Amino acid sequence: MAKLISEDIGKFYHHYPRVAVVVTAQAGGKENAMAAAWHMPISFSPPLYAVSVSTKRFTYQLIADSKQFGVNFLPFESAELVASVGGSQGQDVDKFQEFNIARDKSARTAVPILKAAYAAYECRLVDDVGYGDHRLLVGEIEAIHWLKEDFTPEGTLDLAKVSPILYVGNELYLTGARDSVRRLDREVYGKH
Ligand SMILES: Cc1cc2nc3c(=O)[nH]c(=O)nc-3n(C[C@H](O)[C@H](O)[C@H](O)COP(=O)(O)O)c2cc1C
Repeated sequence: MAKLISEDIGKFYHHYPRVAVVVTAQAGGKENAMAAAWHMPISFSPPLYAVSVSTKRFTYQLIADSKQFGVNFLPFESAELVASVGGSQGQDVDKFQEFNIARDKSARTAVPILKAAYAAYECRLVDDVGYGDHRLLVGEIEAIHWLKEDFTPEGTLDLAKVSPILYVGNELYLTGARDSVRRLDREVYGKH
């Protein structure tokens, strides 16, 4: 069947699934958490990580005030937590209390780190740039919390132990099927 070509773009979701994370922040004695699917690493040296956040989010205000944010990577068992913090507003509710979210102590910033996370980045804001209806928040990673047993000796997520949360859009979540993993060595496949 021929592909459709849309030129009237509107909202677009064709790039999903994406890993869903929980972005955390605090300022002025308030702590908060929100779901985020628009996030990415952008540099190893210095270690930079970016999240695209709407200024409508309470989390944005806290990050703008404190110049810090956390990025928490959770196992699929915590997908409901992602939906909970992604469906509520920190302006109206203390999400940590409401959803009984357990924390670990942060190391280099004051951002909340989620106990349920298999990995989390503590970031110091180095750039805050507006693009359309969102702002791209770039943070330098100052500390990484990670569960050694959930990663292989090479540093990749051990999929025999952890299932990541993938967000498909339209409130749908899935995780990877372990038996679908294939190792495709770029050195072998890139040969010509
Ligand atoms: C799976 C999922 C992914 C989301 N991704 C983003 C995102 O990348 N950026 C964003 O600004 N909002 C995103 N949201 C929406 C916020 O999480 C949501 O508006 C939340 O209620 C904001 O909370 P806050 O006002 O307490 O900061 C996402 C929501 C869900 C459920």
